Amino acid sequence: MKDFFDSLKPGEGDWLLAQSIDPERLPAHIAIIMDGNGRWANRRNMPRVAGHRAGIDPVRNTVESCARLGITALTLYAFSVENWKRPRHEVETLWRLLRFYLRRELPELMENNIRLVAIGRLEALPKQVRQELEAAMEATAGNNGLIVNLAINYGGRAELVDAVNALLDQARIEGTLDRLQVKEEDIASKLYTAKIPDPDLLIRTSGEMRISNFLLWQIAYSEIYVTETLWPDFKRSDLLQAILDYQKRDRRFGGVKTDVVPDSTEPVAEAVAVPAR
Ligand code: FPP
Repeated sequence: MKDFFDSLKPGEGDWLLAQSIDPERLPAHIAIIMDGNGRWANRRNMPRVAGHRAGIDPVRNTVESCARLGITALTLYAFSVENWKRPRHEVETLWRLLRFYLRRELPELMENNIRLVAIGRLEALPKQVRQELEAAMEATAGNNGLIVNLAINYGGRAELVDAVNALLDQARIEGTLDRLQVKEEDIASKLYTAKIPDPDLLIRTSGEMRISNFLLWQIAYSEIYVTETLWPDFKRSDLLQAILDYQKRDRRFGGVKTDVVPDSTEPVAEAVAVPAR
């Protein structure tokens, strides 16, 4: 987090916000549903694609802030399996913007030791997009700082279907299909995100209270933060606010707080026993 403080001017708004953050309790993995580009453009009487164009700088700034904060992974929902339903011009603009981003940011990613990876059904991407994406992933593969994970042609259900099919294929190859028993860790091991810890914090911009088929398995215990800010307006201060809010949460993962005094000293079996009639 020292790098982050070094990038701020003492006394400025974000510096004060950053002072309130506990560097020991940063989320390791932040996932973001970047929403509201269309509405941002609409409010300015601009075409929807202008909103996507304006969404590039927040991507750049958020990546930079996460790298400086020392976050392990940042997953950005850039294109869902459902987004093909949008007008062709909009879809093509999104591919153009992705290629523009990759070309413009590669030197910066290298300089900051950032590794770029992508998750989703990447084989269905236009050839040029796929090639440039693969080249950026290869170029940054040796970096061991922040992992920027772009979800592209991604769907949470599709990911689970792919994981189950991968397990079936494996069992077929190993000749164990007739006795296949699937455990949680088997599914987790075949997810696109198998090598990345599950998100601690899921941020959604633009106020919508939806998950939109994003990381369905991985967000089982993520803390969710929804802000009214539209993605093109998402600033460093919004990210810091989300982290501060996250640090106020009491994460119990289905258990109870460890410092709470138990209600009773009765053994559990006795406490829940149903009296005989
Ligand atoms: C949702 O807003 C946003 C998207 C479907 C695309 C996100 C893409 C970018 C931010 C730009 C490129 C990204 C990278 C990683 C280079 P929406 O269009 O659904 O907004 P609306 O709900 O207001 O219509």
